[in-house]
Amino acid sequence: MNVLVVYSHPNPKSFNHAVLETITAGLKEAGHAVKVHDLYAEPFKATLDGTDFGQIMGGTTPPDIQKEQDLVSWAEGLVFIYPVWWFGLPAALKGWIDRVLLQGFAFAITPEGLKGLLKHKKALVVNTTGGPEDSYDAGKAKEIYIRPMTDGTLRFCGIPDVQHKTFFAVPSVPPEVRETMLAEARQLGKAF
Ligand SMILES: Cc1cc2nc3c(=O)[nH]c(=O)nc-3n(C[C@H](O)[C@H](O)[C@H](O)COP(=O)(O)O)c2cc1C
Repeated sequence: MNVLVVYSHPNPKSFNHAVLETITAGLKEAGHAVKVHDLYAEPFKATLDGTDFGQIMGGTTPPDIQKEQDLVSWAEGLVFIYPVWWFGLPAALKGWIDRVLLQGFAFAITPEGLKGLLKHKKALVVNTTGGPEDSYDAGKAKEIYIRPMTDGTLRFCGIPDVQHKTFFAVPSVPPEVRETMLAEARQLGKAF
């Protein structure tokens, strides 16, 4: 498959970057063609603003959005890698979603209701957290950060097979646990 990885973390020495490297390696081992958009290394305007609305309402897709939509259309599978920030997405990635997954490209409003337009076979979302898993279970808090992406965005846009993985408490686990996590990340890439 052609796989687009959208990656959102500002620090190239972060654990997230190690996850990016291992998942990408796993995807390539499995024979996929991989393109990566690192949203901090190649910044993408992250605010859907009045200028965008003016152009879009006038029937023109801003060129930087068109470029991303072409990348999305090239892909048959999508992978997102990012840390959980304030129980949600880093603003760089939220802005990418706001500006790229536009009505008419990613979904349509039809007389029968909303319809997803993305044709990707599958998607994978990989998150890291600072909080440990038991704190999320205790507060029933997993849904808060998982479902806006898996259901509210990817399944909503028509992708049937959406897999999600969290690596919890990344800053406080010992190095050997992080190594195990990275081995798991490689497998996720290989099995995609
Ligand atoms: C702005 C910001 C907001 C954060 N919000 C959360 C949060 O809501 N829940 C959580 O578990 N961790 C939160 N964290 C911690 C990060 O998720 C954690 O440090 C990161 O996933 C670890 O991966 P890294 O080493 O690659 O950055 C936040 C960190 C930052 C910088």
